[in-house]
Amino acid sequence: MYKQFFSVLLFLAISTTGFCSTYENEVPLARQSFNQDWTFKKGEIGTEANKEFDDSSWRKLNLPHDWAIEGPFDEKHDARTGGLPIFGTAWYRKNFSISEAQKGNIIKVAFDGVMNNAEVYLNGEKVGARPFGYIGFEVDLTPYIKYGKENILAVRVAPKDLSARWYPGAGIYRNVWLDIENPVHVAHWGTYITTPKVEEKSAVVAIETTIENQTTQKGKYTLKTIILDKEGQQVGVLASNFDAEKNKSSVIKQEIEISNPILWDTENPYLYTTTSIILNNNQVIDSYATSFGVRTIDYSRDKGFLLNGKPTRFKGVCMHHDLGPLGAAVNYRATQRQLEIMKSMGVNAIRTSHNPPSPEQLEICDKLGILVQVEAFDEWKAPKVENGYNTVWDEWHERDLRDMIKRDRNHPSVVMWSIGNEIKEQRHENGGELAKALVDICHDEDPTRPVSAGLSIYPQFVKNGLADAVDIIGMNYKPTQYDNLLAMDPNYIVYGSETSSVVSSRGVYHLPLENYEKHDSFQITSYDIISPPWAYPPDFETYAQETMTRSLGEFVWTGFDYLGEPTPFNGRDNETNGKWTGDWPSRSSYFGIVDLCGFPKDRFYYYQSRWTEKPMVHILPHWNWEGADQEEIPVYCYTNCDEAELFLNGKSLGKKVMGVDKTTIPADFKFWKQPEKTWDSPYRLNWNVAYEPGELKVVAYKDGKVAAEKVIVTAGAPAKLTVVPDKHVITADGSDLSFVTVRVEDKDGNFCPLASSLVTFEVEGVGTIAGVGNGNAATVESFQGNNRKAFNGLCMLIIKSVKGQTGDIKIKAKSEGLTTATVKIKTTRKLDI
Ligand code: GAL
Repeated sequence: MYKQFFSVLLFLAISTTGFCSTYENEVPLARQSFNQDWTFKKGEIGTEANKEFDDSSWRKLNLPHDWAIEGPFDEKHDARTGGLPIFGTAWYRKNFSISEAQKGNIIKVAFDGVMNNAEVYLNGEKVGARPFGYIGFEVDLTPYIKYGKENILAVRVAPKDLSARWYPGAGIYRNVWLDIENPVHVAHWGTYITTPKVEEKSAVVAIETTIENQTTQKGKYTLKTIILDKEGQQVGVLASNFDAEKNKSSVIKQEIEISNPILWDTENPYLYTTTSIILNNNQVIDSYATSFGVRTIDYSRDKGFLLNGKPTRFKGVCMHHDLGPLGAAVNYRATQRQLEIMKSMGVNAIRTSHNPPSPEQLEICDKLGILVQVEAFDEWKAPKVENGYNTVWDEWHERDLRDMIKRDRNHPSVVMWSIGNEIKEQRHENGGELAKALVDICHDEDPTRPVSAGLSIYPQFVKNGLADAVDIIGMNYKPTQYDNLLAMDPNYIVYGSETSSVVSSRGVYHLPLENYEKHDSFQITSYDIISPPWAYPPDFETYAQETMTRSLGEFVWTGFDYLGEPTPFNGRDNETNGKWTGDWPSRSSYFGIVDLCGFPKDRFYYYQSRWTEKPMVHILPHWNWEGADQEEIPVYCYTNCDEAELFLNGKSLGKKVMGVDKTTIPADFKFWKQPEKTWDSPYRLNWNVAYEPGELKVVAYKDGKVAAEKVIVTAGAPAKLTVVPDKHVITADGSDLSFVTVRVEDKDGNFCPLASSLVTFEVEGVGTIAGVGNGNAATVESFQGNNRKAFNGLCMLIIKSVKGQTGDIKIKAKSEGLTTATVKIKTTRKLDI
């Protein structure tokens, strides 16, 4: 939702008197980015809020910004939060001016999220504050603006150590906007759009618009709401007159019928837009756009989740909010890429574990057709970490929860709210009561979506009434207990809010197959059989989901690796300072189906084989086992075809049929502390192959015909690099990215799966290095250098465009003894993507 560009009334003369650029746009618009030209300094002396404060020596930067990702990693820092400096006090300042002509208008700044404990000052006056880092908030600057003169906006950010169980980032890490509006205007997140009647020939769109009158006079106004289709054609319109009382908000309810609606769904995520225009004496004084979809959702115990009446199971993943090597600073393209990778695996849903996501993430889910469960909290009043949300719970939880729903309730992708993840109160006597109050808040703000919670302490959460308080019960792990739970009450509906939690490192294979244990290398085998004691290998959860048809589906923990929580290398809880020092240098999760750079681990293909139809086949491990001649190597195969045949150097090792082979794991394979689990998996094929170098090929058959194949080859010595950008053309907007994959290959172009060559990058032209990475969870190399070691043959360079500069970016990747690789990326003014 956003204030629209419109030319009728608001001619803004905004300019910055800052150090760098001035706003390009001396154009009429009501909302503009306020990300450019800030100064930043860590630490504080106490007078930074003052207008006169001299910040000329401070660092100059553009937002969004996450200072913690800049490092350095340090063993002294909490490993749960990535071993990065996510704590401390820092200040951001911005110099801007607003012309005299704006007197009489309302001047606001909207922060999409500041991590965290933000305090906002204008010209030395405190104008706002927000402790929660994941929610957006706006601050009215109007009373303190000095028109036609320099104004100083200063933001104090003070995140604390021991405040999260994963990497939260630090700083003004989401977008900031300047909103200039008429005193009578649509409120922040001021529209609520639902589709109470959806039929083939017509749909009723109900629009509730909150309009604020910040004047001291009452007046007569008109709200004109126009509905546009995807092509911008008007498909509905309604004008309603109303009286705006002085200094009050009015809520205007309208219903507009549209004919032959195109429904939003996961295959065709069709979006409409409403434009809410306020008129006074026939003059347009405000305009506000909201994108929405026409769709129905329904949940029932027996039919499951219905999207537009069609049974749809959640093939979901949980996602934390960081963007790997880029940290927590919001970036549209990086977020879009994460979701595209998930979608290519067959994902149709995400759970925004465990906090409100960036607005961009929901916008992209709307566009890609990905269903979303938006989650509010990981903690209520009872702490999980000393300085977590519990410290502000009493004062802020209702406001934060209401704001989250107001912000996100127009997204067609959002199909469920979650009031919390494994909150401690699930085993407290008052857990049910607290949950009920939160569910009531959600229903009050949005009666159209069910409310859930991710729960893990069964049956305590039933006994204390929490299960009864929520509309739908999310079970974290415990697939064997879904049936017991459902048997307790005929109204219970259940799904897997967290499943599996396998840990693995991309490209790492330890033989013989191992249990859940801490390997000296700080890496975990990628045979996809290792999960912590509370969790399960994917096959077990798949079995549960596919046999217990009454589950609505699952959200696997997690889609991407994330910074922090390096289970099982959690180290000791150091009793002297309460910090979780970890098993250094492990500093990020092993849970991801893809690694921190977005490179698929083997599990990616496991889920693709369960969740997609287009024929695919995958085998693991690699085929470079020098010195292991004739030793038995377990080879696993994931496919969505009926059967597969393995060939070693042209010789068939036999065909195996999916769904019947129960010999996947050696009989004596034991799970750490979980010997009761068995391992007959119908979801993967297994050959034990006597090793000989050469070519290992798998051919998959569907209906008796060859449908897919994959070949892996024993690679020779590393000889060259290749570079593969995911985009050859990007927009010169200062934030668009190209993700460049660097592969180490032998002289014949075979991928070297064990290579760890140090790669150095040279970048010339109109681009900069936004980050480097390799997906290794146990390294403290900086994400921000110009070099990176390959991890099992791969590393990544992330290139960012420069605002306003079009042309070429020339990239060279070099490594000693290897042939250099080069590639060119173009930046253009605007891409139609
Ligand atoms: C869950 C928790 C997640 C994550 C996961 C790891 O219990 O909800 O946040 O910690 O375990 O398996």
